[in-house]
Amino acid sequence: MCGIIAYIGNEPALPRLMEGLRRMEYRGYDSAGVALLDSPSLWVRKDVGRVEALASRVKDGPTAVVGIAHTRWATHGGITERNAHPHTDQGTRIAVVHNGIVENMSSLKRMLAAEGVQFRSETDTEVIPHLIRRHYKGDPVQAVIDTVGMLRGTYGIAVLFADHPDVLVAARNGSPLVVGLGDGETIVASDPQAIIAHTRRVIYLQDREVVTITRDGANVCKLDGSEVGRQPELIDQDYELAELQGFPHFMLKEIHEQSESIERAIRGRLQLDEGNAKLGGLEMSPRDLRHIARIVNIGCGTSYHAGLVASMAIEDLARVPARSEIASEFRHRNPIIPPDALFFAISQSGETLDTLGAVQEVMIKGGHVMGVINVVGSTIARACGKGVYVYSGPEIAVASTKAFTSQVTALLVFTLMLARTRNLSLEEGQRVARALSAVPGRVREYLEAPGPIQKAAEIIAKARYVQFLGRGYSYPVALEGALKLKEIAYIPSEGYPAGEMKHGPIAMLEKGTPVVLVAPRGSQRDKAISNLKEVQARGAFTILVHSAGDDELADMADVSIAVPETEEFVSPLLTVLPLQLIAYEVAKLLDRDIDKPRNLAKSVTVE
Ligand code: M6R
Repeated sequence: MCGIIAYIGNEPALPRLMEGLRRMEYRGYDSAGVALLDSPSLWVRKDVGRVEALASRVKDGPTAVVGIAHTRWATHGGITERNAHPHTDQGTRIAVVHNGIVENMSSLKRMLAAEGVQFRSETDTEVIPHLIRRHYKGDPVQAVIDTVGMLRGTYGIAVLFADHPDVLVAARNGSPLVVGLGDGETIVASDPQAIIAHTRRVIYLQDREVVTITRDGANVCKLDGSEVGRQPELIDQDYELAELQGFPHFMLKEIHEQSESIERAIRGRLQLDEGNAKLGGLEMSPRDLRHIARIVNIGCGTSYHAGLVASMAIEDLARVPARSEIASEFRHRNPIIPPDALFFAISQSGETLDTLGAVQEVMIKGGHVMGVINVVGSTIARACGKGVYVYSGPEIAVASTKAFTSQVTALLVFTLMLARTRNLSLEEGQRVARALSAVPGRVREYLEAPGPIQKAAEIIAKARYVQFLGRGYSYPVALEGALKLKEIAYIPSEGYPAGEMKHGPIAMLEKGTPVVLVAPRGSQRDKAISNLKEVQARGAFTILVHSAGDDELADMADVSIAVPETEEFVSPLLTVLPLQLIAYEVAKLLDRDIDKPRNLAKSVTVE
């Protein structure tokens, strides 16, 4: 959940490190720090708050050409300067930045304290520089190998040695690290975003590997010291450097990118004439698909919601039993893994620890698991080996928007393939394929004229509580709308199946409570409207998301937002858009930090 970067080259390291931190700040943003090799000593500066706070503090820093830096999401110890990284050994000759959790920190601390080490922070990370010092006998790489051999838990670390000005050492286990090989410079970072402005030649470090970097390249070895000899790969030109491009926030930019990102999720995959689809990454023939007896979608947060939509579509269109699971629950309850089931691990980042844990649990029990992932080459994508990339492009705002619609789209493409191996006819398959291929145009159409979002936002911004309701395919959309609002506007809100509302949540309503009801045309529309009447009878202020042209509904609520009409199974791709926009506009009215909401981080690499 933290971002780490290390630089060695011929240019001043500080500007490079600060630029890298800014690009990775979405990974964690409660404090930041930097260490430079200002020979013969280490120059270390940290600050609480955003990277910009650190930037103003270090602007006159040394012009050193080697350094490491960190942006933190606190796990062990409060948000203080002392707890910010880098952490150093007692003599400040070794500095470490770390992403992950040292699970055996208590026993290591006890051991080090008994040897006379005085700890200066409450972090788990601080044991690492002290352990490296303990093992250091002149060889920096061996000292790191010996140290990580004692750590339990997860780590991505970069280590700077005052005594070795021409070398940096990094290691990973469970936390991502990518090495960028430039011209006379080498960069290690948690995320390619911090690297690609300088080079696209990279090496992805694997778990339990250590890399020695110099300005001329990188040398990867295993924990037994044996060389790995991995060849660099080129990051695809399609992978862009995320820039605001005139938008005030990444979230708004990403909402508006959805017609293109959905298009990328279906491009080259739909076969309109055959009423079918092909997902090459699954490496499954129709016969293989025919043998799947059930589907289980696993994810966290928004990715879990995408799985809920997909599960409904799979049962609806393919008539294959499907369900969705929250990864953190699934992995710890000794789940049953039927050999004829296909599991999908859904994750934007591909780094979510709970989802990775669920993948490992499925694998240990001999199950069949594939990824539905956005970040190419990420840990879950690699762990699964096979799967579907959703290609939504870098998603920087902590609140997920375009990843959700791309995940749903990719899984609907899969649903079509699966359904065609069962009872879906050619004509029905063509209808499904046409409905999917029409979505990018419908999304564009809606975003060009999104309706009375501002009016809804002004009411919600004053509310103490908001209820989101939907039935069938609109139920996961209601969950997603409530999650977005909580996440970036901090307004208590909950999503409920509209029919379940009268079994409890209706007690929350009082005169003027905003209720957002998602009721596009389809099998559940009329029942949802009955629920609208019920909440109106209790004085709720109603905001209705409905299908354009459904004139009967246009005047039924206090605010009516029309989305282009689609087939029911693709409706979440449209109905979620106004909810994303409402959350964004409410957060703006309340002057929230939209792209970096409090307490959160983009990629959740802790349990
Ligand atoms: O990277 P992942 O898709 O695995 O992340 C899962 C959740 O942490 C994520 O969707 C989270 O709920 C978002 N911040 C929601 O906007």
